[in-house]
Amino acid sequence: MSLIETDFTEAQPAPPNVMIIFGAGGDLTKRKLVPALYHLCSAKLLPDSFAMLGLDRLDMDDDAFRNLMGEQIRDHVGAAFDESVWTGLCERLHYMKIDMLNGADYDRLCEQLSRIDAERATDGNYLFYMAIPPSLFSKVADYLGDAGLLHETEDDWRRIIIEKPFGHDLDSAIELNNHLHKNLDEDQIYRIDHYLGKETVQNIMVFRFANGFIEPLWNRQHIDHVQITVAESVGVEHRGGYYEEAGAMRDMIPNHLLVLLGFLAMEPPNSFEATALRDEVNKVLDAITPLTPEQVLTHAVRGQYGPGVMPSGEQVSAYRSSPGVAPNSHTETFAAIKLGMDNWRWAGVPFYLRTGKRLTAQYTEVAIQFRKAPTIMFQNTEVDDLEPDMVVLRIQPNEGIQMSLGAKIPGPTMRIGTVNMDFCYEDYFGNKPATGYETLIYDCMKGDATLYKHADTVEKGWEIVQSVLDVWAALPPRDFPNYAAGTWGPPAAGELTKRDGRLWRRIETPKAHGR
Ligand code: BG6
Repeated sequence: MSLIETDFTEAQPAPPNVMIIFGAGGDLTKRKLVPALYHLCSAKLLPDSFAMLGLDRLDMDDDAFRNLMGEQIRDHVGAAFDESVWTGLCERLHYMKIDMLNGADYDRLCEQLSRIDAERATDGNYLFYMAIPPSLFSKVADYLGDAGLLHETEDDWRRIIIEKPFGHDLDSAIELNNHLHKNLDEDQIYRIDHYLGKETVQNIMVFRFANGFIEPLWNRQHIDHVQITVAESVGVEHRGGYYEEAGAMRDMIPNHLLVLLGFLAMEPPNSFEATALRDEVNKVLDAITPLTPEQVLTHAVRGQYGPGVMPSGEQVSAYRSSPGVAPNSHTETFAAIKLGMDNWRWAGVPFYLRTGKRLTAQYTEVAIQFRKAPTIMFQNTEVDDLEPDMVVLRIQPNEGIQMSLGAKIPGPTMRIGTVNMDFCYEDYFGNKPATGYETLIYDCMKGDATLYKHADTVEKGWEIVQSVLDVWAALPPRDFPNYAAGTWGPPAAGELTKRDGRLWRRIETPKAHGR
């Protein structure tokens, strides 16, 4: 099978700019942002007039910073690593020690940026990336505003990328949006959700809208229900401090899982323009009926993992034994929710969402189960029931699309078995290493906010889960830990679907490519 060419020869390099990363000493910069810049550089999408300026509290000079960034780049890029690409990028990395809460340091930042502008011809275009704890977002934006660094002219632009979590709940998200709007126009704010940068997530739209036979079936007449699973086999690792405050619901559902739901359920947008797309996603979120406090008790499930054995045989300890986690923590590491939509297309179709840490497999997928065909034609045969057809959109790993259909089992009697039609991205498009951040960073440099979240979208996400957060806060769990590491979550998650006469799809541990 020949590969379909996926290079970026059509795309032009981004305009000149400096990317300034607050929190450059942290994990995100090393694991995601620098590898993403490497991939952009390798695809020739970074302009010659580009520099990155890392800011953090650590004492380092440019060389030490470059070494630090280079430590893991080979592992992150993998076999495709090209020393000359890295050397070209590395010399454009700079570092400055800063106390983010000291106004005087922002004067030094202005001077440093003027120097870089002069040396690299970056035209005064600045992309500020907030890879810092959320409690600092507003303060840093204020200091940048006071230093005049957020002020745009006709000749240059100033943009700010904000990492999640965007707020802690609905009120804090509204407050943060209002605060940012004091110094920034909405079109300068890029709220990132790295799920929007995943090719396979964007492909949900292509699957639906570029294939004429799909869309007529994509509605309540034909679809019985939808399951969205983002399962992680990893634990909280060294992020206990953050996770204790967040928990699985805040960490994943109002953002990543609702992104998947938005793309799955939206009406066809008029174009791929930012506003058209965001409007359609917002309409989906608007149509979701938030759970009443009574419904939270039956439609939402939380769990926390205890010790267990992973399928690999590895013995792992309980969440409560992780560094930075309280020994009697009530934070959930698993969350599931059943949502419904009040609109013409989806009325009556349940959407079951689940996510968790230390589950059996590392796996993200969307399963769309169609209504069963009537058995009437198969009366007087050995067929007593028909399996429903299913489309599974595999987001990661082993990205692809699978359709399960009924087929006659060869033989003299009428018997039906389920067969799978399976498409793997890698077979057609090869395996392009990417972090998911490449497109998003490149888009921001170009001023394209299509894959970023509008203030409304973030607030609507919180609105949907707010009643669950409230009820869970008011009623601390009494049964934590309630699932063993290495399983599919607490038994109550099974009840969520069983009560409706449905089952979670059994996800096979993904097979290696090239089956
Ligand atoms: C992050 C969450 O936003 O997404 C993490 O904070 C989670 O807890 C991660 O592990 C999952 O992302 P991905 O791309 O690995 O599915």
